[in-house]
Amino acid sequence: MKVGVFDSGIGGLTVVKSLLKHRFFEEIIYFGDTARVPYGIKDKNTIIRYAIEAVEFFKNFELDLIIVACNTVSAYALEEMRENSSCPVIGVIESGALAAQNAITSKESNILIIGTKATINSRSYEEKLHALGYTNLQAKATGLFVPLVEEEIYEGEIIQSAFHHYFNAIEAPSAVILGCTHFPLIANALQDYFGKKCLLIHSGDAIAQQLEKEFDFTKRYASPELKFFASENPDALRNIAKKWLDL
Ligand code: DGL
Repeated sequence: MKVGVFDSGIGGLTVVKSLLKHRFFEEIIYFGDTARVPYGIKDKNTIIRYAIEAVEFFKNFELDLIIVACNTVSAYALEEMRENSSCPVIGVIESGALAAQNAITSKESNILIIGTKATINSRSYEEKLHALGYTNLQAKATGLFVPLVEEEIYEGEIIQSAFHHYFNAIEAPSAVILGCTHFPLIANALQDYFGKKCLLIHSGDAIAQQLEKEFDFTKRYASPELKFFASENPDALRNIAKKWLDL
């Protein structure tokens, strides 16, 4: 199987990392729209337009599946991408909510959802988690984490100030949904901040669980072919990919 993975920038690499761990695909084509990141502060129509352009880009490859490794695009543009694509398109929000359901047993658990402004405003996670019976939800847009991660700042003073800025008035959660694929890159700092007992739910692991359930992967690929594309400075993306994916 040949898969396309799409994100606004480098965040989707955190999903690629999970895909590689499970050795699902023979070939992975990654596209990061680095010229236009961040998407999370843009309006719905712009996000849809960029997402359809990504589908057009993927038409250069004969893909079996497109994974939208971006919560913001998954919240707003999945239907439109599907209408324009000849292969199936799956997003990360549905699987994120299901992964939360698998991992969080008490329906009264205090769950904090963090993501971009667009994702939080869409209320996608809240609606799905409410429908699954969870009653104690907090949601916070933490869009500043996106440019910090794009700058490869994963810990230290600036990250701590951003945590203080966003989480000062938040009630201590027992689980945090990392509702942006950039956020697993700062997962260690988030785990230290919220404490070891706090459960972090990660889009990459969530989509891997969903794929395992929905597809019949008879063959596994230990060393898939990986191709990285970006709308701006692809070398920078490839360098980060090398580091993050240990290539
Ligand atoms: N990584 C993306 C997400 O999961 C979007 C970050 C952005 O472009 O603002 O939402």
